[in-house]
Amino acid sequence: MAGSRWADDAEAKALEAQRKKEKEEKKRLKLEKQRQQEEEARRASEEANRPQKRRRISLGPQDDATPASKESEAPELLKLEGGSWGPCRNVSNYETLNAIEEGTYGWVSRAKDVSTGEVVALKKLKMDFAYEGFPVTALREIQLLRESHHPNIVSLKEVVMGASLSDVYMVMEFMEHDLKTLQDDKLEPFLQSEVKTLLLQIASAVHFLHDHWILHRDLKTSNILLDNRGLIKIADFGMARRTSSPPPPNLTQLVVTLWYRSPELLLGTPTYDTSVDTWSLGCIFGELLLKEPLLQGKNEVDQLSRIFELCGIPTNDTWPGFKRLPNAKSLRLPSNADSRAHGSIVRAKFPFLTSAGADLLSSLLSLNPENRPSAKDMLNHPYFKEKPKPISTALFPTFPSKAGQERRRRIEPHAPQRGEAPRVSMAEVDFSGIFAGREEEQRGAGFSLRMG
Ligand SMILES: Nc1ncnc2c1ncn2[C@@H]1O[C@H](COP(=O)(O)OP(=O)(O)O)[C@@H](O)[C@H]1O
Ligand SMILES: [Mg+2]
Repeated sequence: MAGSRWADDAEAKALEAQRKKEKEEKKRLKLEKQRQQEEEARRASEEANRPQKRRRISLGPQDDATPASKESEAPELLKLEGGSWGPCRNVSNYETLNAIEEGTYGWVSRAKDVSTGEVVALKKLKMDFAYEGFPVTALREIQLLRESHHPNIVSLKEVVMGASLSDVYMVMEFMEHDLKTLQDDKLEPFLQSEVKTLLLQIASAVHFLHDHWILHRDLKTSNILLDNRGLIKIADFGMARRTSSPPPPNLTQLVVTLWYRSPELLLGTPTYDTSVDTWSLGCIFGELLLKEPLLQGKNEVDQLSRIFELCGIPTNDTWPGFKRLPNAKSLRLPSNADSRAHGSIVRAKFPFLTSAGADLLSSLLSLNPENRPSAKDMLNHPYFKEKPKPISTALFPTFPSKAGQERRRRIEPHAPQRGEAPRVSMAEVDFSGIFAGREEEQRGAGFSLRMG
């Protein structure tokens, strides 16, 4: 029985836990100190340009009941930049040119500033809880994007209002492409020199976010924009939130679009950190090389099954403590798990990658979140230094822009909807035959769901 094996090495585990705790405490103290310094610097600069009067934003008592704010954030103070929150202009200052993306919950269109003629992107915010006051998630999307000034993060020009309080639009710089639509239209995958240029810019934006205590939580190719000068900008902060060290407990697990969701999230971890974004970066890296999403699960169980097929089965050695995650308790895994080396499967799937490339990809896709490199480590990885070198953005090819033309509707799983029903329990899922019945892939890659 699985339980007895666990009991046997309880002492070793206790020791391991103690060591880990000490390590974490050290890391926490270091980060805390760094945070205090940053906080002091921020306060000093806020002090310098404090506005005359600051409008108070009340979230209303009902917000506590919304699933998004169930995340145990000791009431999070939304820090507004000094002097920058004032009456919004009206959306009539913009003239719509064409719809770019007609989503399930929101709309993005190409529009023109009537007075200056400047072309912009207009995103109507999703007001899922409009009847309960201005949703905290919409405030976060605006506020976090507004704070994130980086060459590879889309810039928010202003927020404009329509007729009612639920008619709120973000005005952003217009970008010709998103990587998902572009890849769907391209006949060939990007060259590796191009992939490197794209990936370096993406990692640079993600490093900036993590360095500023922001988790994006929905990194995927459709949220990564590209202009016709080879410049990348990360967009869609609809799932983003602030984090801390140690990370807040009981964060929302239902984050990140399924195909880009990390194994710890799928296994129901109550707390997580920047490594959930790094996992998504691994999925994006693979997708850029293959010209199609790397792990296209049909549901959460299937997603996990595909992950295990590519990255191997977790063991107590490769991922200490994973068995304690809520959805992992009754997973049935093959006993010969560790015979499948993660790196070699990745290498076989990407035979054209150099060993540095395969090393980067497989480390980003480490099952154990602690083994994933940070976005900063990624920037310094040898893969980017070896030939073929990243192509200069000035030489990046240009492509016809879909966003500048007709409306479209995309086929891909959408980001988790705030307040979606709790997901299927992973309990009683049998992965023990995961590599046995490859011919039965259609039915879920060799695992079975035991009902009742
Ligand atoms: N600044 C922009 N310029 C051009 N297109 C954009 C811009 N922002 C978003 N889009 C397009 O709209 C789509 C949806 O925008 P996004 O912010 O991701 O909204 P959602 O929350 O509905 O996913 C993107 O995938 C992209 O194709
Ligand atoms: Mg999006």
